[in-house]
Amino acid sequence: MGLLFSLLANLFMKKTTLPIHQPMFNLPSPIPKFPPGDGFATGSIDLGGLQVCQIASFNKIWSALEGGQDNNGATFFEPSSIPDGFFMLGCYCQPNNRSLFGWILAGKPVTNESFSSQSSLAKPIDYSLVWSSESDKLKQEGGNCYIWLPTPPDGYKAIGYVVTNLPGKPSVEKIRCVHAELSDEVEVDRWIWGLDKKINVDNVNVYETRPKDRGVNAVSVSTGSFVVQYGGSSADVSPVYCLKNVKNNLKAMPNLSQVETLIEAYSPVVYFHPDEEYFPSSVNWFFENGALLYEKGKESEPSTIRPDGSNLPQGGCNDDSYWLDLPTDDSAKERVKKGDLANSCAYFRIKPMFGGTFTDIPVWVFYPFNGPARAKVEIFNVSLGKIGEHVGDWEHLTLRVSNYNGELKSVYFSEHSGGQLIDSSDVEFENGNKAVAYASLHGHAFYPKTGLVLQGRGRIGIRNDTSKGGMRMDTGVAPMVVAAEYLGPAVVEPPWLNYSRKWGPKISYDIANEMNKFRKVLPRVLRGAFDKIVKRLPNEVLGEEGPTGPKSKSNWSGDEIY
Ligand SMILES: *[C@@H]1O[C@H](CO)[C@@H](O)[C@H](O)[C@H]1NC(C)=O
Ligand SMILES: *[C@@H]1O[C@H](CO)[C@@H](O)[C@H](O)[C@H]1NC(C)=O
Ligand SMILES: *[C@@H]1O[C@H](CO)[C@@H](O)[C@H](O)[C@H]1NC(C)=O
Ligand SMILES: *[C@@H]1O[C@H](CO)[C@@H](O)[C@H](O)[C@H]1NC(C)=O
Ligand SMILES: *[C@@H]1O[C@H](CO)[C@@H](O)[C@H](O)[C@H]1NC(C)=O
Ligand SMILES: *[C@@H]1O[C@H](CO)[C@@H](O)[C@H](O)[C@H]1NC(C)=O
Ligand SMILES: *[C@@H]1O[C@H](CO)[C@@H](O)[C@H](O)[C@H]1NC(C)=O
Repeated sequence: MGLLFSLLANLFMKKTTLPIHQPMFNLPSPIPKFPPGDGFATGSIDLGGLQVCQIASFNKIWSALEGGQDNNGATFFEPSSIPDGFFMLGCYCQPNNRSLFGWILAGKPVTNESFSSQSSLAKPIDYSLVWSSESDKLKQEGGNCYIWLPTPPDGYKAIGYVVTNLPGKPSVEKIRCVHAELSDEVEVDRWIWGLDKKINVDNVNVYETRPKDRGVNAVSVSTGSFVVQYGGSSADVSPVYCLKNVKNNLKAMPNLSQVETLIEAYSPVVYFHPDEEYFPSSVNWFFENGALLYEKGKESEPSTIRPDGSNLPQGGCNDDSYWLDLPTDDSAKERVKKGDLANSCAYFRIKPMFGGTFTDIPVWVFYPFNGPARAKVEIFNVSLGKIGEHVGDWEHLTLRVSNYNGELKSVYFSEHSGGQLIDSSDVEFENGNKAVAYASLHGHAFYPKTGLVLQGRGRIGIRNDTSKGGMRMDTGVAPMVVAAEYLGPAVVEPPWLNYSRKWGPKISYDIANEMNKFRKVLPRVLRGAFDKIVKRLPNEVLGEEGPTGPKSKSNWSGDEIY
């Protein structure tokens, strides 16, 4: 009877364990032991007037079991085991379809001459109830939910909310607000949870926040908090703020020996598609194997490039006065196009993010050639001829490391003009803590998983295939740190990094003509649909220009785009 009951219960209630109910996520291997340095991975960071630490242990307050990502709901947590002298600044929330992996800052006032105000933290004077689950017929766990926004005293700002499962106002002792001088504006980041109007009278949405001002020189500090938008509340005005590193120092950044440890521990592994024909090479290999430098007006006399790129024009802007190209000799050209995995090299850039509380490590990979785009039309694979091809292809992945404890928090996968920021808990790892990335066939976009990503609608689109082929690149084998401005002369930028023109020529061909070549091979009934998809293709697919180098991209000193 009992067995039958549980069988039936399993059948009808589809009892599945949500990832959030699994144990908290930890990296497959422990965080590495770092050699001595200054303020990196010491547990807390002094922002000037306020010392902050990252709390990653939580008490669960309440879960929604529907709405949000995969309709799996979300869970709100309160930070626990806050060290002596530190105060809670807000609660944490994440989707249920991920195992628990997050953090929220706690703060402790410190006296420091770089901060004028006496008290960097203050109790709220009151709370306002932002949202409660009382009136919603919502599948939930842990009673009803109440989200309270602290009312800060004059001159202070709220960093986060208090979440309770009791209708009474929380005590003002519960949380602290931060002096306005130490705060900065946030914007909405990735969506955490929401209910749409069908279930609810008004829709509620919970988002991660991120500082509005981001980049190597920005002083705004991420807090790990979230923002609630309810009913008519505007996306532009946030009631919560992030912090600011008023000291504006980079004391918490890793020094060079610590950077080496980071690379050793976290350098990603790239897998290529089994059908890949165009592999990476080192930049030096590309130069030594016949790449040519062209100058406008002197097209007939290209020059060879010194292995270190020291005869490439330096600085300036992408003005088409120079460009690179493959060797002119046909057999050399075909050979260079294929790259040379054995002679490939990953180029690491080390940059401060979020006011020096995180280290972003973009890992750049160079390919001499980007192969043609491929389309999928029903069951047919069509190669798009020359379309999508270009000489020189720069791709990157970014490791985002916490400077509080040296943990890899997320990995950014760049995919053409955008990308995905994936939390470590959803990243595939091998050989300890090395993130796995899949390079798409010909286009070399990085994906966190294998499979087909189709650009287009229905059964027709541009293929981005990834698969675990036998060929892989361990970016930690020949790592080269090419830029880390904050380390001063310890890191010397190679001359090719300062080359700001295109790494491949502008090719002109008749797109209509190219399109026709494979349109002809399609069954007639599919041609109309195919024409539609071609019309919607982004310019960059039709783009036949070589790209500029890593330093010319806005993401060089800014945040990643996702
Ligand atoms: C890193 O910092 C430590 C402590 O200040 C120092 O002993 C070490 O030489 C530094 N390493 C490098 C490469 O700067
Ligand atoms: C969670 O749900 C979102 C939205 O449906 C989906 O994109 C994401 O892949 C899911 N994450 C996991 C780990 O399943
Ligand atoms: C304030 O910060 C500076 C820079 O880190 C530090 O040298 C100084 O000791 C601090 N002062 C106090 C009183 O903590
Ligand atoms: C890059 O080139 C410009 C122009 O020649 C020069 O001013 C700058 O110092 C160079 N930067 C590096 C890092 O070599
Ligand atoms: C289309 O290409 C993909 C990826 O290379 C391959 O797996 C698939 O078998 C091909 N389909 C056909 C019908 O050739
Ligand atoms: C990086 O920034 C450049 C613009 O400077 C943009 O063209 C490129 O698509 C961006 N790459 C990613 C992956 O965000
Ligand atoms: C697929 O590849 C094309 C061309 O290589 C690119 O423009 C497009 O953005 C890619 N789509 C996705 C979803 O990554």
